[in-house]
Amino acid sequence: MPDKTDRTIPTDLPSNLPAISPEQLTHLLSNPQIMSMFYERAKNMMWSMVQYKELQMLYSCALKEIQTKFEILDTEFKLEYNRNPIASISTRLKRTESVMDKLERKGLPFNLTTVEENIHDMAGIRVICSYIDDIYLIADALLRQDDITLIQRKDYIETPKENGYRSLHLIVEVPVFLTNHKRQMKVEVQIRTIAMDFWASLEHQMKYKQAIPDEEAIIQELRDCASVIRETDERMLAIRRRIEAASDAPSEEEVLLDKLARLDIPVQ
Ligand code: GTP
Ligand code: MG
Repeated sequence: MPDKTDRTIPTDLPSNLPAISPEQLTHLLSNPQIMSMFYERAKNMMWSMVQYKELQMLYSCALKEIQTKFEILDTEFKLEYNRNPIASISTRLKRTESVMDKLERKGLPFNLTTVEENIHDMAGIRVICSYIDDIYLIADALLRQDDITLIQRKDYIETPKENGYRSLHLIVEVPVFLTNHKRQMKVEVQIRTIAMDFWASLEHQMKYKQAIPDEEAIIQELRDCASVIRETDERMLAIRRRIEAASDAPSEEEVLLDKLARLDIPVQ
């Protein structure tokens, strides 16, 4: 059995393996020493695969933790203000092929240590809000939680990318509690409005198409759309605030009755 501390994932087969005939292969396979070598190698690979799957499972648990945190914030906000700040949440684990590509681009080998230390988006969660102010509200509420550690914050809403991309990106660490210990796992959080998400999906599609005629014109058009979306997001928020300001403040009794109705949660 390989050492448990060996965190190397063997993905390397020599590219210059000599061609062998069926007779030579039969001869090789009848050699117990060679068979035992194959067996050891196969066991090593299986061991590495188990370790990688375990790591993926930890990232998947971290995603569940963060998703639940956002769902709780949404539920609480709905009870308090009768409005859901979160329109939808989606999660994904990075595909192994993309992990290997990313490490190769960074000039790093593929093993458990390089994955954990260099791939900050193994676990990704995208939270879609209706309004811009809700993005900051839920991001700040998440970051105030004492088991969350902020690793990196990139505000592409405040400072959009050159192509027009807007989103709030956070890399956070969250503990995953296991039977005997806990593991701090990194999660990439992307928070944006419905309109920003609409834009990003289309722009993403374009990025992965090979040769697009009029690419420059499309890039410019997308930049224009991003600026219209920015303006629309800001106007929608201003309208919501005007409506809220114009509404009569409910009486204390009305607030209590309203909350009671919303707290009438069916027991499962
Ligand atoms: P990677 O892009 O993950 O290598 O890291 P980075 O340091 O560039 O991180 P960044 O926070 O800029 O981007 C992380 C993720 O945000 C990407 O993987 C995309 O999902 C998304 N993203 C960033 N920029 C763009 C963009 O211009 N267009 C779209 N559609 N998505 C983007
Ligand atoms: Mg990038």
